[in-house]
Amino acid sequence: KGLRVSDKGFLNTAVIQSQITYIDGDAGVLRYRGYPIEQLAQHSTHLETAYLLIYGTLPSEKQLRLFEGEVMSHSFVHADAEHFFRSFRYDAHPMAILTSAFAYLGSYYSEANPSLQGQKLFTARDKASLGNMDRQIFRIIGKATTLAAMAYRIRQGREFVTPPAGLSYTGQFLYQMDHLGQKDYKPSPVLEKALDVLFLLHADHELNASCTTVLQTGSSLVDPYSAIAAGCASLYGPLHGGANEAVIRMLISVGSPENVPAFLAAVKRREKVLSGFGHRVYKTSDPRSFIIRKTADEVFKVTGKDELLETAMALHDAAIKDEYFVKRRLAPNVDFWSGLIYRAMGFPLDFFPVLFAVPRVVGWLAHWRQMMLQEDGVKIWRPRQIYVGSSKRDYVPFDQRP
Ligand code: CMC
Repeated sequence: KGLRVSDKGFLNTAVIQSQITYIDGDAGVLRYRGYPIEQLAQHSTHLETAYLLIYGTLPSEKQLRLFEGEVMSHSFVHADAEHFFRSFRYDAHPMAILTSAFAYLGSYYSEANPSLQGQKLFTARDKASLGNMDRQIFRIIGKATTLAAMAYRIRQGREFVTPPAGLSYTGQFLYQMDHLGQKDYKPSPVLEKALDVLFLLHADHELNASCTTVLQTGSSLVDPYSAIAAGCASLYGPLHGGANEAVIRMLISVGSPENVPAFLAAVKRREKVLSGFGHRVYKTSDPRSFIIRKTADEVFKVTGKDELLETAMALHDAAIKDEYFVKRRLAPNVDFWSGLIYRAMGFPLDFFPVLFAVPRVVGWLAHWRQMMLQEDGVKIWRPRQIYVGSSKRDYVPFDQRP
């Protein structure tokens, strides 16, 4: 009674107060904890930005080294996990593997669910509780790259690689994926840096579908591993983290620049979607897309140009001038260029959403921590519906049904 369905798709519903990420969709502004994304991309690293997102301030050098050390020391996974990975079919989608792997990981850490252990909920008033929470955060960020690399290698029938010491977060990730047993193998520093910038840009984006899923799941007080698995499942979809994969499939289907007008005509007839364009919040270019475009040029210097680049540029240039897209304020989003970089770096198409999920665990954890430590406690996210189904009716046996 008194309920109205007024906001299908939550276009205008704010469900939480947050101090983490600020977006001005009309001006194309993105800030993490007040710092412009452009400054962070230029000066910071993914792990420093992770600290900023989670704890709210830029770390001192000592705090950063401690944080990096904690995260890296948690990059190992239990040897039993190898059996779990080997249970997937050789052609399983890596995002399905990663989603399952996070849920699986939760089964190892009962202390991550204090309320199930009959203990107090995570609370800022208790140092041990905060320490427990930090440990789960270090573990999830540290193991994310290892789980992703295992999902990558199992599909290629290659042995797993132990996380190496002494490399950066993205360096050890690339090492775990690419290492083929060569002595003194080191990933390319340009690609390591480019991936770090991409990770930083993907680290958070306030209450997108997956972050909302993490919070909704977390609001039942389940452990963070299960909440992160739920976030992965949401990110898997083509309207969200699957869009960078969809962009490449679209570019392959367009084929070459001369086919762009026909493709755009099909989009306008609503037969196709222009993947990598449009955003719920940005009504102008996504600020991350400019940084990614520049990063792409750095990567192409090492890898060579992607053959789809010309088609992408032709599509981009035509769409941003086309009245259909201008009128609807559809501009390039973060996914338009990122897939081209991943492709040039040699990642298979279906691995792209994984490359979105690994850095995004940072944002999910920052929001989860913020919610769990709210002064007034956690309220379960339980929206209402308006029932429009049948009124009461009586059960009918088979022989009397029409
Ligand atoms: N191609 C063609 N038309 C589009 C597109 C598109 N990519 N996006 C929106 N429109 C049209 C839509 O048909 C509608 O037209 P009309 O008013 O005539 O019916 C109008 O633009 C408004 O779109 P909407 O669907 O109401 O917008 P939304 O806020 O519900 O959806 C979106 C946002 C991102 C799901 C959508 O723009 C889309 O599907 N984009 C393509 C997929 C994509 O690139 N996703 C990545 C988003 S950024 C990273 C992330 O969040 O993961």
